[in-house]
Amino acid sequence: ERGDYRHYMLKEIHEQPRAVADTLAERLTEDRLLAAAFGPKAEAAFENIKGVHIIACGTSYHAGLIARYQIEQLANVPVSVEIASEYRYRNPVVPKDHLFVCISQSGETADTLAALRMAKERGYRETLAICNVPESSLVREAGLTLMTRAGPEIGVASTKAFTTQLAALAMLALALGKAREQISPEQEAELVRDLRQLPAQIEAALDLDAPLKRLAELLVDNRHALFLGRGAQYPVAMEGALKLKEISYIHAEAYAAGELKHGPLALVDEHMPIIALVPDDELSEKVRSNLEEVRARGGRLIIFAAEDTGFEADEHSHVMILPRGVSKLTRPALYTIPLQLLSYHVAVLRGTDVDKPRNLAKSVTVE
Ligand code: M6R
Repeated sequence: ERGDYRHYMLKEIHEQPRAVADTLAERLTEDRLLAAAFGPKAEAAFENIKGVHIIACGTSYHAGLIARYQIEQLANVPVSVEIASEYRYRNPVVPKDHLFVCISQSGETADTLAALRMAKERGYRETLAICNVPESSLVREAGLTLMTRAGPEIGVASTKAFTTQLAALAMLALALGKAREQISPEQEAELVRDLRQLPAQIEAALDLDAPLKRLAELLVDNRHALFLGRGAQYPVAMEGALKLKEISYIHAEAYAAGELKHGPLALVDEHMPIIALVPDDELSEKVRSNLEEVRARGGRLIIFAAEDTGFEADEHSHVMILPRGVSKLTRPALYTIPLQLLSYHVAVLRGTDVDKPRNLAKSVTVE
């Protein structure tokens, strides 16, 4: 039940600390990822993996895009990520010893299920489903499974399903890194400690609700918005744009900030708000200069930046501060939270049917 929350979406946004903690529970000790996390067959299957293909749709696809950065970094294997409806209709070449991973909240998405069935015929080393519904078709048919424990998600716009997928995929990156002997026990301990901080980090980010509600007023009358990020924050920006368009019907697009000059900069004027994600990572200076280009062209900015990255609010820009020093493993989930809340408040102000946006279904069981 919705309880005191006005919408299921808002309730589900607030359930994220618990949902993520549940997803990590019993799979991590203080400083180790448990071998049993992916089931008894996983260790042998992950050893000597030479690459990973990740397939999903919508929000789950964005989770896959984020996982690519983490798996490549921790496990040092090539990762490709593709939309299920594209993958299933080409002739995907499956190199030796590749792992197939499908991600789905419902486990019933027609294209994702068809992609898994095709993958099973094509000779992957193993198939793994990351899914939120234990009795779903995807879980029944995949070789290995890792359940997210988000609990039922009623809002059509995915929120807690997404952040629990990110937690599950971070564990996959760790498991592959261990199986391929790319991370030392010390590194594992540090990464596990990082991951265990995620529920508390999300809890703290939920406190931004009130300022985000005010910020939403800036967006409510716009017809378009552009989301920018670099590195793993680029797919976070994609997810932010999807959330805004899905529930508020404002046209939103995400770009890798480095692409601005290659086209979208032409769109920038005072009617095109730019929402940018700038954590304190090795790319923050690059994003800063990308944003200078926007500012110089009169663009209005909403910046989600880590503390002490030096962004200051002025008449054209609003700055929301997030903590600095947050681990690479948890940063994408953390930056997702304010984007969910922002979209939510914009949608409420616009009076849309937040939990059941027009033309959309929770589970896309026909292609
Ligand atoms: O159940 P799935 O994760 O397979 O669903 C995939 C997409 O249909 C889903 O994520 C969709 O994009 C959401 N409504 C986005 O909020």
